[in-house]
Amino acid sequence: MKTLIGTALEPALYWLKQGEVVAIPTETVYGLAAHGFNETAIAKVFAVKQRPRFNPLIYHVATIEQLYQCVAAVSEDVKSLINAFWPGPLTLVLPAKQTIPLIARAGLPTVAVRMPKHPLTLELIQRLEAPVVAPSANPFGYLSPTTAQHVYKMLQGKIPYILDGDTTHFGVESTIIDCSQKPFRLLRPGAIEKETLERHLGYSLLWETNQIKAPGMLKRHYAPHTPLIITKEPETFIQKYQGKVAIIDFHQRWHNLKDVVAYYKDLSPQGDLLQAAQNLFVTLHEIETKKLQAILTDWLPNHGLGIAINDKLRRAAH
Ligand code: TXA
Ligand code: MG
Repeated sequence: MKTLIGTALEPALYWLKQGEVVAIPTETVYGLAAHGFNETAIAKVFAVKQRPRFNPLIYHVATIEQLYQCVAAVSEDVKSLINAFWPGPLTLVLPAKQTIPLIARAGLPTVAVRMPKHPLTLELIQRLEAPVVAPSANPFGYLSPTTAQHVYKMLQGKIPYILDGDTTHFGVESTIIDCSQKPFRLLRPGAIEKETLERHLGYSLLWETNQIKAPGMLKRHYAPHTPLIITKEPETFIQKYQGKVAIIDFHQRWHNLKDVVAYYKDLSPQGDLLQAAQNLFVTLHEIETKKLQAILTDWLPNHGLGIAINDKLRRAAH
């Protein structure tokens, strides 16, 4: 299959209607979309990604009417979250409507839904007149894509079309919360800060870092082929690997080591966490082309977007 990249919406719409899988831009990472009510198309998403069938997908809607095609009931608390944060990188797990294909929700009684904030994709879903399911457009367990070129590199030949909507804004996935029971639970830290949600809700989200309730929560995930090492002593590893390593820095902590390693990138010299999130996967994709012995990095400040970035680093290092 020949894979085309373009900014035109029509080919994406055409292929989705044909029951094919296409890559779409969002404000977080690129997604691998299929018509949300076509089970054969949904099965192709699992096949293209080589994703295990027990991992449920996120429904992407463009309107509130489409939300009601997915979920059975929406409480007042949930409505208030929707008003505050949609369209945007907040995924809500809610009781599913019976009509949601079981394959999409991995047999669960719940379904994950979000309204992405990307004009092209919103228009696409609106014109399709149905929600799309869309996991991140990477092979299962590998780095997430933040540009159309990343998707092309990983999935060329497997899908007919990549809708190019530029580099994604956040660079990390949506925040997922389980609203099917109270108090709400954080399933995956992401682009909307945990603290922001808690301020809005007026209470702390439950969060068990060790639970494997969502596949983004597998211990190893988002992982580059080059081993990633989280350390306070980069010098030890630089010596061990004779400088054939990459450093991923933040806020110029290791700026003095810039010239003794094969690759150096500061995710944000000024210490800005959004900028760091935007640069994370781009940097990892770039390092993969260099064939180095290891990637050295250290935790980022553990608040705001730093929580999502540290979560990715932890799983990438596992
Ligand atoms: O930012 C994002 O959310 C991106 C873009 C493309 O929208 N999508 C994304 O999808 O990250 P994916 O498939 O890579 O991750 C979906 C996560 C998984 O961790 C999955 O377990 C969880 O959503 N999930 C889906 N349905 C669920 C459910 N019913 N209960 C609990 N977790 C669910
Ligand atoms: Mg993913």
